[in-house]
Amino acid sequence: MAASAHATSTTDDDADYVAYYNDCMQNPNAFWDQQARQRLQWRQLYDKVADHNLAEGQIRWFTNGKLNVAENCIDRHVESGRGDATALIYEADEPGTTQHITYKELQEQVNRLANVLLQQGVKQGDRVCLYLPMTPYAVYAMLACARIGAIHTLVFAGFSEDALAARISDGDCRVLITADESVRGGKKIPLRQIANDALAQIPGQVRAVLVQERTGKTPPQAYDIKLYEAMAAASPVAESATVDAEDGLFLLYTSGSTGAPKGLLHTSGGYLLYAGYTHEHFFDYKPGDIYACLADVGWITGHTYVVYGPLVNGATTVIFESVPTYPDASRYWEMVERLRINQLYTAPTALRLLMKQGDDFVQKHDRSSLRVLGSVGEPINPEVWRWFHDVVGNKQCRIADTWWQTETGGIMMCPSPLASKEGHKPGAAMHPAVGVVPLLLGTDGQEIKGNDVEGLLCLRDPTPGMARTVFGNHKRFCETYWSHFPGYYFTGDGAKRDSEGHYHITGRVDDVINVSGHRLGTAEVESSLLLHKGVAESAVVGYPHDVKGEGICAYVILRADFEPTGNTAKELKEVVRHHIGAFASPDRVQLVKDLPKTRSGKIMRRILRKIASNQLNELGDLSTLAEPKVVDEIIEGHKEFL
Ligand code: WTA
Repeated sequence: MAASAHATSTTDDDADYVAYYNDCMQNPNAFWDQQARQRLQWRQLYDKVADHNLAEGQIRWFTNGKLNVAENCIDRHVESGRGDATALIYEADEPGTTQHITYKELQEQVNRLANVLLQQGVKQGDRVCLYLPMTPYAVYAMLACARIGAIHTLVFAGFSEDALAARISDGDCRVLITADESVRGGKKIPLRQIANDALAQIPGQVRAVLVQERTGKTPPQAYDIKLYEAMAAASPVAESATVDAEDGLFLLYTSGSTGAPKGLLHTSGGYLLYAGYTHEHFFDYKPGDIYACLADVGWITGHTYVVYGPLVNGATTVIFESVPTYPDASRYWEMVERLRINQLYTAPTALRLLMKQGDDFVQKHDRSSLRVLGSVGEPINPEVWRWFHDVVGNKQCRIADTWWQTETGGIMMCPSPLASKEGHKPGAAMHPAVGVVPLLLGTDGQEIKGNDVEGLLCLRDPTPGMARTVFGNHKRFCETYWSHFPGYYFTGDGAKRDSEGHYHITGRVDDVINVSGHRLGTAEVESSLLLHKGVAESAVVGYPHDVKGEGICAYVILRADFEPTGNTAKELKEVVRHHIGAFASPDRVQLVKDLPKTRSGKIMRRILRKIASNQLNELGDLSTLAEPKVVDEIIEGHKEFL
């Protein structure tokens, strides 16, 4: 069983660990070969570990290997006598409502749902859209797709109908699985109704809608298939499809600096291996541990570290439906005490929110079960890091500050277990994972060598868990990631390598902002604003926000023929909420007469970012602006937010 494949665990002897790590780094393909044989159950062993052609953005791992992902995540554990072990602990929104689901039960539910999908005519390679709350049914649906070789595409249940419709149609999904309502922090979101509005935009696209009755409060539509009933009527035994290591497992949409969100395709063999390896290694996962990643399955963190990584390792994984402050700010810590959680993985935005509420909420609960505390999604501020380490972890836990991306599928950098000896650096991801070779490049593409330097973060070699393409648009995949600096993967992040060779991520270097750990392109927000009839032009930038990490500030020029009212800013926020989702709605809308532009008409966002961040002394050179006085007007208007 994979969880016993401890070849990668640290030994007490640091010198051994360093030698082992260096050895793996010398020959990563041999390392992945050994890992793939140990960790995965293959129906047919691959004939080549890796076969890439980076000039064409082609990444292939474990060529001609055949397997089934659900079999690896479920059946293998049942067959090895662990069927009664808990696979999922569902911590429902309603405090104190918990359900334990064993591997045997998981198997049965996944099989039933796989059979329902087959009845609906879903075939291997088809895409199935999931728009679901955080309950075990989301996991059943993902694994049911994997069972039959279909490709799931989850849409985070905070996205609006427009965003959902765009993803269903881009992925050409014919079947949608959704719920009547989702419940988070006691608030209900009418998913079925939102889905209905989405489907009205794309008539004829979806032929079957399966509805989970999470609350049972919304009457079903005439053509809905009730999920619980359909599953109860279906057989608990299902065949597993044989898929190629390079066949698609899921699509997940993510934002970039330009254009509509991209549907990144992740494949079956390499992704699953990388999920399992990194979950065990970076969280020091040991059989019997209770592991909790508190992310939503709608994001990559949920895919890899709520579902695939833990399950391929036979772990017990917590499905957390609620929010950190419901019913109060002790929810996480009360849950840690009650479930005896060993590893807790969350995001800086949640920690900032909780830190503000004071230490009492934490201290009144027993956290002695915790060993590793993980953070992901954005840079963790050193003072938040210290609070996590000193207060939450009582100085007893390792902090895993994990840097990675939707595109990389799994953790790429994280302080290695040696960091405790070398001295932790709060806010630094520090060490690359095995097989990850980071490079810092200048804008001219030249590598910046040595230590104590800063540059654009690129990666030299593809790792098994990386996305293989942008669904339906391989050219875009190559252009976005592989052709800025030929031969290297461009991350979109900047980084520093300090005097000891440790990495510190400095943030995005493109027009992507990170709002409460949710990734958004400023261009997406700008296109939504244009949907309002009064908007002529807009520029959106991020600014530091003490809870969300980054807040969204929109500078909007109204059309000459549009007369603003006291409600205009509110309407503009509403348009974005409607088009993308509530999390993308601007925190500030500033109506402006003009935007700072160069003589060639390019908006100088750098200046807007400085104003929004209130760094008025650092506006830099304004001489290239066509109309420098525009800046004074914007600064004047900015005062309303101070
Ligand atoms: C940022 C989330 C600093 C980074 C898994 C990256 C981080 C983007 C960290 C990807 C970290 C993620 N420290 N920044 N530990 N983790 N980021 O695709 O800018 O939602 O490019 O994947 O989040 O966000 P995504």
